[in-house]
Amino acid sequence: MLEKLETHLLLVEDNPGDARLVEVMLKEAGSFRVTWIERLADAVTQLATTDHGIDIVLLDLSLPDCQGLDTVRTIRRTAPTLPIVILTGFDDEQLGLKAVQEGCQDYLVKGQGDANLLRRTIAYSIERRNSEEEREQHAKRLKRILKQTVQAVSLTIEMRDPYTAGHQRRVAQLARAIGQRMNLGEDVLDGLETAAFIHDIGKINIPADFLARPGQLSDAAFHVIKAHPRVGYDIVQGIEFPWPVADMILQHHERLDGSGYPNALKGDDIILGARILAVADVVEAISSHRPYRPSLGIEAAIEEVRKNAGVCYDAAVVEACEAVVRNREFEASEGSDSTAPALFT
Ligand SMILES: [Fe+2]
Repeated sequence: MLEKLETHLLLVEDNPGDARLVEVMLKEAGSFRVTWIERLADAVTQLATTDHGIDIVLLDLSLPDCQGLDTVRTIRRTAPTLPIVILTGFDDEQLGLKAVQEGCQDYLVKGQGDANLLRRTIAYSIERRNSEEEREQHAKRLKRILKQTVQAVSLTIEMRDPYTAGHQRRVAQLARAIGQRMNLGEDVLDGLETAAFIHDIGKINIPADFLARPGQLSDAAFHVIKAHPRVGYDIVQGIEFPWPVADMILQHHERLDGSGYPNALKGDDIILGARILAVADVVEAISSHRPYRPSLGIEAAIEEVRKNAGVCYDAAVVEACEAVVRNREFEASEGSDSTAPALFT
């Protein structure tokens, strides 16, 4: 790509004297093209066009149609990747700091500094914004890779156990929808979804012939199956997830009244993520087809958790789950790809 010969600067400044001074200083510094605009609304119109060609915004915080940090927020909303340098008459470091927290690259006070300082500030701000943008893209890519890796692990478990194919993916979908209904933050939802995708990872330790044998199981076989939350915890606990994924996996068969396993935890000793997983897991399992029975239907699934709300299952989670199903934010599996014996959920 050809290096740009000049830097195109959008100067948003309502004082003609100040604007003229900046233009003179930048002319002195060389290699600048300045577009001067007096009102924020006009700057927004200019930046909203796809081929504006602007490299940086030099922004006054006191404009006829907008004041203070709102000017920054408006520009950031319109052109999120563009570097912004504040140029203001207020010698107020606190305001400068706040502007940087809002995403500005730097802060200049009118009447302080010369053409060289202005040129260097602009060059540095463009460089800094470019490297921030690269870091943001890199972080997004890593997040995508993490999600794809978790999904690959999820598929691996299910390939070994065709009766549960698709179960974890649908539990993840339902758990996220429940979490959204409960107004949990996007980051918490990401953690919930991650744990749901691999909540049965501990089943890797269950002999394949147990998995292939639907119906009644011996006490010994059931004992082995009941170990899967602990095995899953042991597999995952060394990964530095930014969420309590291992604990959600460990606790997804715990019940509020202490009747669950492996630790017979009660009430709030069970973390919220695991209380959501528990409901999503049971509702998905009951409403899905099994090799030995057709789907019992989403109504039966909701009835099961509703009658045990406040006893086995968190009442607020059950209520959110019901709302999700009623609003068709989750559809029960129609096909035969989820065929896990209910015991294995
Ligand atoms: Fe499970």
